[in-house]
Amino acid sequence: MDKQLLEKTARELVAPGKGILAADESNGTMSSRLQAVGVEPSPDSRRAYRSNIFATDSSYENSISGVILYDETIRQAMDDGTPIPDYLSSRGIHPGIKLDTGAKELAHHSGEKVTEGLDGLRERCIEYFAIGARFAKWRAVIRIGDGMPSDANISTNAHALARYAAICQEQGLVPIIEPEVLMDGNHDAKTCYDVTARILDATFSECEVQGVHIPGALLKPNMILPGKDSSNQESRKQVAQMTVDCLTAHVPHNLPGIVFLSGGQSDEDATAHLNLMNGMEASDGLRIMHPWELSFSYGRALLAHALQTWASGSNQESQIAFAHRASMNSLARNGSWNKALEI
Ligand code: 13P
Repeated sequence: MDKQLLEKTARELVAPGKGILAADESNGTMSSRLQAVGVEPSPDSRRAYRSNIFATDSSYENSISGVILYDETIRQAMDDGTPIPDYLSSRGIHPGIKLDTGAKELAHHSGEKVTEGLDGLRERCIEYFAIGARFAKWRAVIRIGDGMPSDANISTNAHALARYAAICQEQGLVPIIEPEVLMDGNHDAKTCYDVTARILDATFSECEVQGVHIPGALLKPNMILPGKDSSNQESRKQVAQMTVDCLTAHVPHNLPGIVFLSGGQSDEDATAHLNLMNGMEASDGLRIMHPWELSFSYGRALLAHALQTWASGSNQESQIAFAHRASMNSLARNGSWNKALEI
């Protein structure tokens, strides 16, 4: 394992003012999103939409350090024929790759899922590194509900996340470890806190068993939020505080960075929550320094508006929408975003 390379890549991915664009929707998910805005899904429509985003020329590389790609996209090219990973690298952006092959039904546990993709993973990492990838993502899905998550759901996903992370590191890819506690449901924020703590504890304990090098990895968690259907919605400030409290107690402090998923939050909530976390002050007015960089790895919260405008026919408007969200989240990296900057 090349610890130096891993640590350097991880630090670059969470460099000040920068975060990650998650453009790695599987073909199924991307196709449904295209259909929802009236576009016929195909390899070329997926390529046209994403390559237009990547070609945005307003220096978005100052806000975006890496882009997570899906297998189809990492093999596609920009309009001028430049392979997409080469194009991103030429702009100083690390190409990343989604390595899991999806969440499948967990045996004997109706409604729960375990993420697959470990078979042949070493060979796939070798190939993706050769194509230009320098980091990777694996997403586990944890649902809160009656009796859920089960111990089986927590332990199988934690084990898979740690094995994935170890294999990535062996091949020079920084693993983004993503245990996502879903916002679906009517649970309160305290329940989200407790379940998030459980999956984080299990995941980092498995990482220790598997020998994962924590300074060469990143965590992509949910924020601590009540379920979408909960009657007890929390203030943005409370969400930020509970999230920082949970992470401080359950994430190793030698991890270089935490890159949140947006998970269905509105664009502005995702930015505001990150901004509050990075702008926290102690009672003496001094900025609170967290042990890790607190950053973003947003999909929908960076691209939802850009997709709509692209579908309505304007490549340029779509690029403007993406560049705007990227710069708003860049400001949130050090607590300097405010609502008046929204357009
Ligand atoms: P969202 O920000 O849309 O949740 O997507 C991030 C992601 O990569 C989920 O795996």
